[in-house]
Parts: sequence; C-alpha cells; structure tokens
Amino acid sequence: MSAHGDPIPMTAHPSGPLSGTAQVPGDKSISHRSLILGALAVGETRVTGLLEGQDVLDTARAMQAFGAEVIQHGPGAWSVHGVGTGGFAEPEDVIDCGNSGTGVRLIMGAMATTPITATFTGDASLRSRPMGRITDPLAGFGTTAVGRRGGRLPMTLTGAADPVPVRYTVPVPSAQVKSAVLLAGLNAPRQTVVIEAEATRDHSERMLRGFGAEISVERAPEGNVITLTGQPELRPQTIVVPRDPSSAAFPVAVGLIVPGSDVLVPGIGLNPTRAGLYTTLQEMGAELSFENMREEGGEPVADLRARFSDAMQGIEVPPERAPSMIDEYPILSVIAAYATGRTVMRGVKELRVKESDRIDAMARGLEACGVRVEEDEDTLIVHGMGPGGVPGGATCASHLDHRIAMSFLCCGLAAQTPVSVDDGGPIATSFPIFEPLMTALGATLTRDKA
Ligand code: S3P
Repeated sequence: MSAHGDPIPMTAHPSGPLSGTAQVPGDKSISHRSLILGALAVGETRVTGLLEGQDVLDTARAMQAFGAEVIQHGPGAWSVHGVGTGGFAEPEDVIDCGNSGTGVRLIMGAMATTPITATFTGDASLRSRPMGRITDPLAGFGTTAVGRRGGRLPMTLTGAADPVPVRYTVPVPSAQVKSAVLLAGLNAPRQTVVIEAEATRDHSERMLRGFGAEISVERAPEGNVITLTGQPELRPQTIVVPRDPSSAAFPVAVGLIVPGSDVLVPGIGLNPTRAGLYTTLQEMGAELSFENMREEGGEPVADLRARFSDAMQGIEVPPERAPSMIDEYPILSVIAAYATGRTVMRGVKELRVKESDRIDAMARGLEACGVRVEEDEDTLIVHGMGPGGVPGGATCASHLDHRIAMSFLCCGLAAQTPVSVDDGGPIATSFPIFEPLMTALGATLTRDKA
C-alpha cells in the first residue's frame, strides 16, 4: 500500500539521451520548518516555493489543528497566521503525519512545552520508526509521552506546564532531534543548549534566527554547541524556499548515467550541511558543474549541470560526510552501480531507520538488478558495472519509501532491460512532479496494472 492509497506499480524503460531543464520542487526540510515556525510566530508569515508534497501538506494540516491559520494562495504560495510561542491550542483529533518523520518529530518538539495533549500517528512506515530519540530529550523539559512498545506511534504527548530548559547532547547525528529540542526550548525559560558532535543540516538554526530568536552556535571540542534563549516573540517572515538538493539528485543522477544526456537543474539549495552528494560525485569524476552560484533567501544556490559521465570511478565516501548526504545514499548507490570499481559507504547505519531500512532495500533491489553488493550493519558497498553495465530486469520493493522508489526508477532508465517498482505512490510525499519532470527530459516511465 502506498502512503495514501492503493499501490502504483511503475516501470522505467531504458531511455535516452535525456536532456533539458528540470525544475525540481521546494526543499522539504525548509518547507516543514516554514510552516511550523510560521505557526509559532505572531502574525502572518508568507512562503513561496513551498513543497506541496504529501509530507508537507500533512504538516500544514497539523498546524491548522494546533490553531494556526494556513492558507494556500497559489502554487507554492502560502500564508501562515501564527499563534505565538506557547500559543498552540489542543487538537480535537489525532494528528496524522502520514509518512513524515520530519513532520511528526518537529511538531512533537513544537508542542512539548505547551500544556496540551496531542496524539500522533502515521502510515505503516512511520509507525515502525523510533520516537524515543525525540521523547527522551523532551522528557527533560517535563513532557510526558506514552506510545507503543519500542517508543513507536501512535503516541500521546502532554506538554510541560512548567517547562525547564535542557542541555542535551544529541546521541546520533540527527537534525530532527536537534530541531525538536530547539523548538521545545522556544517556550521554556532561560537557555536551552543542544550539542551535536557531527554537524547536521542547520535550517532550523538559520530560520530561528530569521524569525528573531536569540540563537548562537559555538564550535567547541565536543562539537557544535547551540544555545537558544527561550520565550522570544517570533516575528513573521517572508520565506523563499530554495529547490531541494535531495530531489535534484534524481535528475542529476540520470544525467550522469544515461548515455548522451545533458540535464540542467536550476536554483538548487547548496547549504554545505546538505551538499555532500555533489562533492562525492565530483570525486568520482562526474561531469557535474555548478553554474550561476548565488544566494537566495539566506541559502547558497546554484544551477547544476550534469552530463553523461562514462569515466566515473568508485570511491570510499568519508563517513564524516554522511550527515550532509544522508538522504542521498540510495541514489548514490545507483550511480555507483554505473561507475567502475567499488564504492564504499561506511558510517551509514542511520539509513536503517529512515522511511525504510535503506541499506537493505537498496542491497536487495540492486542484487535483483544484477549488481554485486556487500553490506553490514553500518556499511554498504556497491561493485560498479561501468556505463551501461547494469542488467536490470527486476521488480524492486519500495517499502513505502519515496527515495527507494525513485532510485530504482532512475536505475531502470540506464539499465539493459526495464526496472519496475512495486509501488511508486510514496514518490508523492516529496516529489509529486517526478513522473512528468522525468518524462519531459525524455524518460519512458509507465504505470503498470496492480
Ligand atoms: C531531516 C533530517 C534527516 C533527514 C530527513 C530530513 C530534517 O533525518 O533524513 O529526510 O529535515 O531535519 P534525521 O534527523 O533522522 O537524520
């Protein structure tokens, strides 16, 4: 079953060359944060370029349930009339975050220091994911949480009536955990401190500053020490959401692996905490250029140009780069299958608790396509078969995971025989225009009978 309906089996047929311009949608991480911080500000925040994927729409609905007015004015153009820090109302019904780990975890943080009770649930993928990593630090503020065994959804949180600020060292590199603690800290007195040994995406810090919160980041021997002063009055903002580098990775990938291709992907956010894939591809010898580098809405942005690259070599991806490309390992493992030599991805065990176990999903699907793969708990190794070298001819399971579905469809466009996925439905969570966008570049994608 896909996230919000019946399965949509899809097939990618060997295609190409692919060419043209791919206008990918807005950044998912920044879109969630725009709505949540907009809901916590006093007055009207305006957002353009918002991702209208199901994940973000579920967050928009949740913000309405907590009392904010959220209105769509046109494609990607939204306003949020916020209720102020600590102003969330108690929702009348269960909050369904669908497939979105980011949505549910950030919203839990945002309500955790307001004395209201809310129950959260999601689809089968989200209900299998760990929430203890959020509720543990929130307990420090005085928030209580009751969920299923293993800290799974559905889960009911009651926010602290008299919150105390916390000092919390994030035990795994996770921007969701960091952000949940910072959002909870907004309605706690004095200073909330989050320490992260490895830097993760910093959109929350940037945006909190933009909304007028007092927040500092200090580089210390133990990592980044982020200090937020509680109970600010957040000022509404005008937010321009850059295009998503994690979505851009798919048209970039097909540009690199489909013979003769030349694909331009304009206006991509290249915040250094998100751009690790692009550094990795350059190290592999990809013909990838960054054109028209500029700054938009406080984020570095460039136009990416990817051309067919027949000389890509497998590399060892430095494990310390993992947080800056954590969502890109599935598509990197496809690109690696078309490179020459081994690509070694270590330090990636967090992939096991994403929308699916992404190490397992990629390993099984690539093997079915005729690619040799090795894995252990924390590692994925792909043995490249060179340009045009992947046999394909398999149906891969997408496990309710948008990035797994898109990765195997990209794989099929360059393979010797078609590659299918059992369910392309989850693609709508993050990249609702994936199919028409790829088709416009010259890809042949079909929807098959269930
Ligand atoms: C996200 C953080 C990452 C990432 C997710 C989006 C965010 O998750 O995988 O897609 O917007 O904060 P983790 O915090 O679990 O690493």
